[in-house]
Amino acid sequence: MLTLVTGTTGQVGRRFVPRLLAQARAGEKVRVLVRDAARGEPYAERGAEVVVGDLRDAEALGKAVAGADAVVNVAAAFRGVPDEEAWAVNRDAAVELGRAARSAGVRRFVQVSTGLVYGTGRGRPLTEDDEIRPGGSMWGAYPESKARAERELLALEGLDVRVGRLPFVYGEGDPHLSQSLMWARNWAATQRLQMGHHADVAQALLRILHAPGIAGRVYNIADDAPVTAVELHQLGGVDVPAELYDRTDPDPWHVITSTVRIRRELGYRPLYPSVYAAREAGAL
Ligand SMILES: NC(=O)c1ccc[n+]([C@@H]2O[C@H](COP(=O)([O-])OP(=O)(O)OC[C@H]3O[C@@H](n4cnc5c(N)ncnc54)[C@H](OP(=O)(O)O)[C@@H]3O)[C@@H](O)[C@H]2O)c1
Repeated sequence: MLTLVTGTTGQVGRRFVPRLLAQARAGEKVRVLVRDAARGEPYAERGAEVVVGDLRDAEALGKAVAGADAVVNVAAAFRGVPDEEAWAVNRDAAVELGRAARSAGVRRFVQVSTGLVYGTGRGRPLTEDDEIRPGGSMWGAYPESKARAERELLALEGLDVRVGRLPFVYGEGDPHLSQSLMWARNWAATQRLQMGHHADVAQALLRILHAPGIAGRVYNIADDAPVTAVELHQLGGVDVPAELYDRTDPDPWHVITSTVRIRRELGYRPLYPSVYAAREAGAL
């Protein structure tokens, strides 16, 4: 079995691939798609095949999927990119990758998505059966393009597509947790962020990849303890700005997702049920 992974130079991908390689059984191989050959070298040293190219390039997609049995599409463009690029990578290239995978006879396609696709206003934890309607404070090209990619990939006939919706991912040296203050300083004190440690995101994606008989299934991925804006400041070791206490949380359930399905169906249990557990384990 050969698994192609995209986005392996990013925060999630670079922590997922070593785990995929570490648990590979005899005959299981990994291929990575990278834009910069030099950044593929560490993967080649660990035994992965490396294809160099951009996801928006049809020829690169063809090379990347040739002979592959499974694809995990981690790549996305959302950190400070123009909207056109977000659409081109997150929707158009993802769907083209799905089509190329289907033509190449790929059996499984895992699409890495985001809890931001749900939008606001449900008044309870979000479940995978909820309609996706990105919006609210995170309206914009990123959640919308990820939502459209999910819909179009799941509609591709003849391809076994599975979707993992990620929370706010942190841990293992990722600066994301401290970066959260960029947003959290503008929130209400009680506004919460649904978290997931890299180790748990990786285990969830591996479960979604390997489980038989779940074509078309969507899974939320998260830990058990969303963190408030006040706690994010405390975790960052900075004073909580007084204004936080003057604001009202516009939607206390924004991107707070239920993990009942992945727990029941795939046996997922977070190794780090909270950011505090990860901190105590030295895994931040
Ligand atoms: N991190 C989170 O908290 C979070 C939360 C929810 C969902 N997610 C999802 O998780 C996935 C990974 O996120 P991340 O945090 O790891 O993002 P990231 O650090 O920004 O990494 C993005 C990856 O995608 C690659 N990429 C971007 N445009 C590309 C293109 N045109 N062709 C080929 N590769 C391209 C990047 O390659 P270069 O290095 O060459 O730029 C990089 O490897 C995404 O699908 C995202 O939507 C993440």
